[in-house]
Amino acid sequence: MSPQSLRAQLLAWYDANARRLPWRVGPADYAAGVRAVPYRVWLSEVMLQQTTVPHAIPYFLKFTARWPTVTALANEADGEVMAAWAGLGYYARARNLLACARAVADGHAGVFPDTEEGLRALPGLGPYTAAAVGAIAFERATNVVDGNVERVMARLFAVEAALPDAKPALKALAADLVSEDRPGDWAQALMDLGATVCRPKAPLCERCPVAEHCAALSTGSPETYPRRTAKAQRPHRFGVAYVLTRDDQVALVRRPPKGLLGGMLALPTSDWRATRWSEAEAVRAAPVCADWRGVGEVEHGFTHFTLTLQLLRAESDADGLIWSSRRDLDALPSVFLKAARAGLANLF
Ligand code: ADE
Repeated sequence: MSPQSLRAQLLAWYDANARRLPWRVGPADYAAGVRAVPYRVWLSEVMLQQTTVPHAIPYFLKFTARWPTVTALANEADGEVMAAWAGLGYYARARNLLACARAVADGHAGVFPDTEEGLRALPGLGPYTAAAVGAIAFERATNVVDGNVERVMARLFAVEAALPDAKPALKALAADLVSEDRPGDWAQALMDLGATVCRPKAPLCERCPVAEHCAALSTGSPETYPRRTAKAQRPHRFGVAYVLTRDDQVALVRRPPKGLLGGMLALPTSDWRATRWSEAEAVRAAPVCADWRGVGEVEHGFTHFTLTLQLLRAESDADGLIWSSRRDLDALPSVFLKAARAGLANLF
């Protein structure tokens, strides 16, 4: 197999099949000289880390309508941006997003650096994002490797080493295919192939433009690549979430700036621990004295653990809490929106 023929086939497929995405300059427009806006490329790449394309699109449209430039975003108050990010998860990304926007606005006159090294020097901008923005916005021949690209490499070359140890080897295989010719389209072609054809569970090999190069396909079971070491079971934690109401309002708190869900609005909760809470313990740990009643529980999966939130509900007029209309709960991260909805069911 020659890398040149593989590249040519995949780029030709991309020319005909590129997904239309709101941050993307498609291959025809690109060939006509249109260039991507770095702010939009950067914003989309930050959103797309750990988030699917269909889930990210409405957020991208909302952000770019409200903050059309990196300077507009940089000038916004933290709480507004965190609230707009609610539902995208991984809230450290929103904090890093703001830190980076402010560095570009203040230190670079609102203009993104145009090299991978320059991008990498911005706060909160990691190696993946620097490579992706460098390639897609600035035509730098960077090696853009996300989970999709790892899977494509593992299959093309039938890599037997298991993830996560295989990561450097997969990255090196991807590097061998990068060239100065159309690096942005190349990166996006690999991403689109991984997302729409070389899918994790049910690859559509009959539609694959590079099937003839695929060593995993020759083994007869391409879907078994990439190999993975057996996953440790996700631990389970238990916490109590307190749904405190007054009229049509719900009491919220702002979580401490660091750590999981840091800086986000939330329902008040107990500590999260390995064992279930008895109702008496849950009442003792409550943020205010009230007539608490158990109203069920919800479960939520985080990357590193599963959380059961046991729900207690009461009415109160307590101070020291952020009273929010129940119609205004969109600023809550998914786990608390789920808990608030379940806790408020049948109440209003
Ligand atoms: N996933 C991550 N970045 C992407 C992009 N630029 N286009 C499509 N899917 C992506």
